[in-house]
Amino acid sequence: MQARVDSAGNIRGVCSANVKGKGSRVRRLFIGSHLDTVPNAGPFDGVLGVVLAIALIELLGERQLPFDIEVLGFSDEEGVRFGLPFIGSRVVAGSLDLQILGRRDEQNKTVKDAIGDFGLDPAHLADERADASSATGYLEFHIEQGPTLDNLNLPVAVVDAIVGQTRVDVMFTGMAAHAGTTPMKDRRDALAGAAILIAEVEREANAVAGLVGTVGRADVEPGAGNVVPGKCRLSLDVRHIDNDIRKMTVDRLAKSAKTIASARRLELAWETQIDQSSVAMDAGMASKLDRAVTKAGLRAHRMLSGAGHDAMIMASCMPASMLFLRSPGGISHHPAETVREDDVAAALEVGLKFLDELAQD
Ligand code: HGY
Ligand code: MN
Ligand code: MN
Repeated sequence: MQARVDSAGNIRGVCSANVKGKGSRVRRLFIGSHLDTVPNAGPFDGVLGVVLAIALIELLGERQLPFDIEVLGFSDEEGVRFGLPFIGSRVVAGSLDLQILGRRDEQNKTVKDAIGDFGLDPAHLADERADASSATGYLEFHIEQGPTLDNLNLPVAVVDAIVGQTRVDVMFTGMAAHAGTTPMKDRRDALAGAAILIAEVEREANAVAGLVGTVGRADVEPGAGNVVPGKCRLSLDVRHIDNDIRKMTVDRLAKSAKTIASARRLELAWETQIDQSSVAMDAGMASKLDRAVTKAGLRAHRMLSGAGHDAMIMASCMPASMLFLRSPGGISHHPAETVREDDVAAALEVGLKFLDELAQD
């Protein structure tokens, strides 16, 4: 495999050893997932998909295929450092808005700085785009990260579609004051206002089937126990497979935030970070995956992905597909996240059968 680190920090490896007929216009199958994680994560989210891609190639042995394979280890899918997910896969898909090079992390470093610090040259980002014209498609193995397969006692599932998501940066600004001397009626307490919005997020999400809303981060300033909070910055994450339901929910929460702010003499900043629509996986590839699951002696099951994945970005430039592996206990984004070895073996068996299905095209 010819491996390299591209200028976005993606680790990429091309294997042409199994290509039948070494013509110049060989088609290419991309198989990958992400290498980055959330803080205090489990050991399988993302990287399992990269390792399975490499293991699948190892299992090919002398088998001949009408396409070569490029393994993709994406550098930043979670969006934890710069607040914007999918930087690595957007570079490969050719959909990265270069404006993001100026986004800053908590240490005030830009994306451009981070790429340079890693010894890479952001001037070459545009050269890293995959050639979609000769792409057979994209496959991503990934843990389900929820309880569905564990409850159904199934090892794998084929993903129908990936749920859309909106991420917003919300800032309430009031005025820091003495906790002991400031009468309650005179306070402009940013955290108390934020707390009402957080409860609103949960109420909205509980009211609609399939809707999830999360405030995962709350930064309070100045953060001393005897000071009325002057500032509170919240993250907001809203997801639903129906884009209209998701957008209407976010609009209602924005209105609630405005009402809370004006009632409490707070200033409000509402900055949408991403507004990512739901993405259907390629029907043809999903059917091939179904057949591969059946030929591997397993029950084919289709499901939605509540988590976002690089497959939703790669789908913008080539047919994309995903195979989920069971998450025992539905645990993910947590150190106890795990997979079962027999499920990993099953996924590789499905992968081999899937390559056969693709080769027959
Ligand atoms: O947040 C997510 O959807 C996933 O962890 N990227
Ligand atoms: Mn994740
Ligand atoms: Mn992931």
